[in-house]
Amino acid sequence: MNIGIIGSGGREHALCLKLKESDLVNKIYCFPGNAGTELLAENIDINIDDFNEIKKKSLEKNITLLVVGPEKQLVNGIVDFFKNTGIQVFGPNKISSQLEGSKIFTKKLCKKFNIPTSKFEIFIKKSDAINYLENSKYPIVIKADGLASGKGVYICKSKNNAEEAVNEIFNGKFGKADSILIEEFLEGEEMSYFVICDGKDYKFFQTAQDHKRVGEGDTGPNTGGMGAYSPSRLNNDSLQDKINKKIIDPTMAGLKELNTNYIGFLYVGLMICENEPYLIEFNVRMGDPECQTILPLLKSDLAKIILSCCNQELGVENIEWLEKKSLCIVLCSNGYPGDYKKKVIINNVKNLRVKEGQFIIHAGTKFIKEDLYSYGGRVLNIVVTSDSFESSKKDALKILERINWKNGFYRKDIGYKVT
Ligand code: AMP
Ligand code: GLY
Repeated sequence: MNIGIIGSGGREHALCLKLKESDLVNKIYCFPGNAGTELLAENIDINIDDFNEIKKKSLEKNITLLVVGPEKQLVNGIVDFFKNTGIQVFGPNKISSQLEGSKIFTKKLCKKFNIPTSKFEIFIKKSDAINYLENSKYPIVIKADGLASGKGVYICKSKNNAEEAVNEIFNGKFGKADSILIEEFLEGEEMSYFVICDGKDYKFFQTAQDHKRVGEGDTGPNTGGMGAYSPSRLNNDSLQDKINKKIIDPTMAGLKELNTNYIGFLYVGLMICENEPYLIEFNVRMGDPECQTILPLLKSDLAKIILSCCNQELGVENIEWLEKKSLCIVLCSNGYPGDYKKKVIINNVKNLRVKEGQFIIHAGTKFIKEDLYSYGGRVLNIVVTSDSFESSKKDALKILERINWKNGFYRKDIGYKVT
């Protein structure tokens, strides 16, 4: 079959690499892809918010399965759009995508089904939110409701900070705000837990830990993700059992009450407090860079698993994993997550050979003629799998030294809790 992958980041290049391994896959098209996917697939540069355009190209290229990387198109209903077109789309529909699209939708579901999460209040009036801050405990967490590319979350140490956050959100910093979420700050360690779902069953799809802050020691502004490692050091059987029973099962039951179901990857963002899971957020997709970190550990055929999900046959699949430690370091353009230069040449990647279990996964890159150029804030992901996090990290750093890109920077402490 021919597959289309929607998106242009590291996650999509990692999906492309894994799907390319499958005997079921004939040709891959990436909408619009990056320089890395261009080496494996045909990139098609279209506006991925235009579903009619994607449909036109998919029919033209005989694509029968679309795999959606980012959340935006899912939240905007790409799955519903392609219903009855003969083209299968792997991902949740518009209703289910609210698990990421609306934090308030998810919080209400948590309340109804007793899903462990931080205590919260929802405000539709700015003055009520400000009054609430008067007698609150600090730190406190303030969140914009809709999609904000990971930026609509404020951890506020004082009432002044919190008032500022409320004002910024209601003044439209993340788009029109009808409501705001104020929640208790959870103390613990984060873990990203993934499952893959077919609308009936779901299966474990690994754990990871990402580093969202730009600076060493997890300091400075939030980014899309500066690196990650998998598996998480926190995962164990009893924790996994609790996550499934207390969080995922009731969520699926809640969607069933809405007469819908969940097909796709589900990213469960958790705070673990004394081996108890608390839901921080759901994402309706794989994480980035978690996907780059996790997929090299997958032994099974990803195309086969995804097809099984589309046909509600995941129950018979056996998903197998390598017993390795995977670590990913992201090479970013200087200045990211603020302003940065685009279209800067990257000289040392084209002829760089890496060993088995080592991967250079592209994000914001393009080829101009034969040369590789940066086109985004996050540019390359260096992923290494080995028997220990220490050696994965050491080898990833060595590769970055060989790339020696003067316009870029990376965190040298990724995985500091496990190395
Ligand atoms: P979110 O976009 O909801 O994942 O939030 C971004 C980041 O903010 C999370 O990865 C956490 O590090 C932090 N965060 C969000 N909610 C809480 C909370 N209730 N308690 C502590 N940290 C939080
Ligand atoms: N790495 C965080 C995310 O993908 O949302």
